[in-house]
Amino acid sequence: MDLPKVADTCPKQVELEAGKKYAYCTCGMSENQPFCDGKHSGSEFTPIVFKADETKTAHFCQCKKTGNSPYCDGTHNSLNQQTEQ
Ligand code: FES
Repeated sequence: MDLPKVADTCPKQVELEAGKKYAYCTCGMSENQPFCDGKHSGSEFTPIVFKADETKTAHFCQCKKTGNSPYCDGTHNSLNQQTEQ
């Protein structure tokens, strides 16, 4: 299985609206991070499509290595440490 591209090594703050549908990019190739723009086409990746259950501010993963997609779980911190060495 291909690994997703690291879109960025920090999460993106997004404002979610209750009842609105979102498509979270899992491949890392979208130019509209953290959301899908269709660039996964032809790859094995598919977006995570979900409807927000409440209006809230959320932090979405852009390193694509979180264990809690689409939300940031802090994994990007270990990537930042690797690149700083
Ligand atoms: S562009 Fe990445 S999942 Fe669609």
